[in-house]
Amino acid sequence: MLEFCLWLVIVVIITTVSVIALPILIITSPLWASTLLVIYLLLKALGLSSIVSNKCSQIYDWLFFKSDKPRKFLWRNFYNALCYMFPQEEWKTMNYGYAVSSETGHMIVLAKEEESERFSYQLYHFMATGFKKTGNLQGQIIVEVGSGRGGGLAYVVRNLKPLSALGVDYSKQQVEFCKRTYTYPNISFVEGDAENLPIKDDSVDMVLNVESCHCYGNFKKFVGEISRVLKSDGRFMLTDFIVADRVPAFEAVLKEFFDISEKKDITQNVLLSLKFDSDRRMNLIQNRTPICCRKLLKRFSGSEGSNIYIELESRSSLYLAYNLVKKSS
Ligand SMILES: C[S@@+](CC[C@H](N)C(=O)[O-])C[C@H]1O[C@@H](n2cnc3c(N)ncnc32)[C@H](O)[C@@H]1O
Repeated sequence: MLEFCLWLVIVVIITTVSVIALPILIITSPLWASTLLVIYLLLKALGLSSIVSNKCSQIYDWLFFKSDKPRKFLWRNFYNALCYMFPQEEWKTMNYGYAVSSETGHMIVLAKEEESERFSYQLYHFMATGFKKTGNLQGQIIVEVGSGRGGGLAYVVRNLKPLSALGVDYSKQQVEFCKRTYTYPNISFVEGDAENLPIKDDSVDMVLNVESCHCYGNFKKFVGEISRVLKSDGRFMLTDFIVADRVPAFEAVLKEFFDISEKKDITQNVLLSLKFDSDRRMNLIQNRTPICCRKLLKRFSGSEGSNIYIELESRSSLYLAYNLVKKSS
């Protein structure tokens, strides 16, 4: 109930601000901007700024990672906005990547045009091959839930040759981007919610889910949906970052529907990838985004020093990968 009320308040505030109050806000900006500045300086002088900033951090954490409806609403708009801001086709993946422990971090040979997003493709390769270096998906019908800008699924189609591949994402802008960008005959994209998939029962051989489930409001509903659409011997390859002390609850939900065939802690591989990829990520933000968005984007970028990087390094969050087999009913 509390969550629903908060969600309602956020929607009302955003609608009111954007439709009615925006002109008023602009006209009165000298007044409220200077008031905010005075409050900020006062808090700083009284030594209270860190307490306030901690509280804001907690609210942010709850909104983006712990709430139900607000989380879904915020992430959807975040990804839609990101796609508006970055319509460029050279950016096709949105995960933190996977690097092996070597001088270069390379695991596979890639085409020249895939090199710039190497580590993100390596994560897809690692997952789609069932944690192996080689493999293929010939004859298989695969689905990716949370397909984002589609680069990962397109990589899998080009290199592992499934019979067909469907990407599902609830961000309309991204689905349109994918439909424009990938035109192979056996790949398609559809707008849909992970918790209510637009897919028939018992029709899929493998579901991929890469760094997406942290956005979902109802994780159990999502896992139930994957079990519903998979064929009886279907596989579910899932990877994401998870707060360490929430792993037991996370796995308890998985075990209601799936047997864990294999589990890998890939936190170190993801950290390595972020190290190798840090400059590219920072350059993208620095050169392609408006100045007002950079701080927020750096927070999500995973670059060294960002919140998620620090959490993975301290192991308060883990990056885990699961190979799951549907439980026989
Ligand atoms: C971090 S991105 C990862 C995208 C892609 N898997 C990749 O690695 O490039 C997370 C994606 O999950 C999608 N997503 C979040 N919540 C979703 C939901 N409830 N249903 C479908 N897609 C969702 C977002 O729109 C976003 O594209």
